[in-house]
Amino acid sequence: MLRFAILTAGNIAHHMARTVAAVPGVVEPYAIAARDKQRAADLAAECGFAKSYGSYEELMADPLVDVVYIGSTHNLHAQHVRMALNAGKHVLCEKPLTVNAAQARELFALADEKKLLLTEATWTRFQPAARALREILDSGEIGRVVGLTANMGCAVAHKPRIALPELAGGVLLDLTIYPLTIADIALGQPLGAPKGLCAKNENGLDVQEAVQLEYEGGRLASFFVSGRAVLDNTATVWGEQGRVTLEADFWHTQALTVESPRGVRRVELPFDATGYEYEVRAVAAALESGARECPDMPRSATLRILEQMDALRAAWGIRYPFE
Ligand SMILES: NC(=O)c1ccc[n+]([C@@H]2O[C@H](COP(=O)([O-])OP(=O)(O)OC[C@H]3O[C@@H](n4cnc5c(N)ncnc54)[C@H](OP(=O)(O)O)[C@@H]3O)[C@@H](O)[C@H]2O)c1
Repeated sequence: MLRFAILTAGNIAHHMARTVAAVPGVVEPYAIAARDKQRAADLAAECGFAKSYGSYEELMADPLVDVVYIGSTHNLHAQHVRMALNAGKHVLCEKPLTVNAAQARELFALADEKKLLLTEATWTRFQPAARALREILDSGEIGRVVGLTANMGCAVAHKPRIALPELAGGVLLDLTIYPLTIADIALGQPLGAPKGLCAKNENGLDVQEAVQLEYEGGRLASFFVSGRAVLDNTATVWGEQGRVTLEADFWHTQALTVESPRGVRRVELPFDATGYEYEVRAVAAALESGARECPDMPRSATLRILEQMDALRAAWGIRYPFE
């Protein structure tokens, strides 16, 4: 079984460690590293990981680690992915894979050179709801699709990872990546770059935004994202004969409502554990089959969304200090 390691012991690292513990037999809970040895040891003990390290370098130097899951802040993803690939580890990295598309292209090239798997952990793409949505749209149940609307709002603007330019803050990389992902799943490649407006915080970072995309055949997507307020957090795909609503929170929904001339039906998709298990299974399955890419999260999709976010930031005049 693949020996699975987690880099960091922060918020998402806790979710991932608990997930690995909750789905035994998928990967071996092997090691956790954090900047503070005790925090790594506490999380490892709680979730049954065999080893803990007080530095990322020690984790990378452990020859028994097969896969590293990276849960650091956005500004550090590229550095940590590079460290892991250079140490010969496969990588599952939290979203966004990097802060811009150029960094991601460089890391995919490095992964190819090292013959290693590198996958972005945008959990939305791996979940049963993503597959169910595609199947419903492809079946024609709601007729020809004309567009998508979504709201995503979480009161996170005060958090350092959103508020600070040096951490590649702003809601674009943290929240807007999710409606961009749902639009990508439902509508595919847009015509040209997205357009949008943003409101900025005192550090010049985007804290609220309204984004629009246009697709072939006159289809449109529009969403409002806020780091200041909790919104209804639903997404709806609209068809000429009905609609599919991804219930709150749409980016990890466990229920879709389909309304069509046939009536109203609710599709319930309960998680096996936390919702993060699907990406871990996908990595294990890809490696088992000798692949270096997960079919649910193709590299082309990672790059497409990063290019969309690059275009929005360029239009808004937002650059991170380390870029
Ligand atoms: N998929 C999801 O549902 C989901 C949800 C939330 C967040 N995320 C993603 O997960 C990643 C981390 O978010 P989070 O909520 O877990 O954040 P967090 O709690 O702040 O954890 C980030 C970790 O980054 C590490 N780090 C290393 N150097 C740092 C520095 N100089 N300053 C701050 N942190 C530093 C810390 O690791 P140590 O423990 O080693 O100190 C910290 O625990 C982001 O990419 C975010 O987009 C995903």
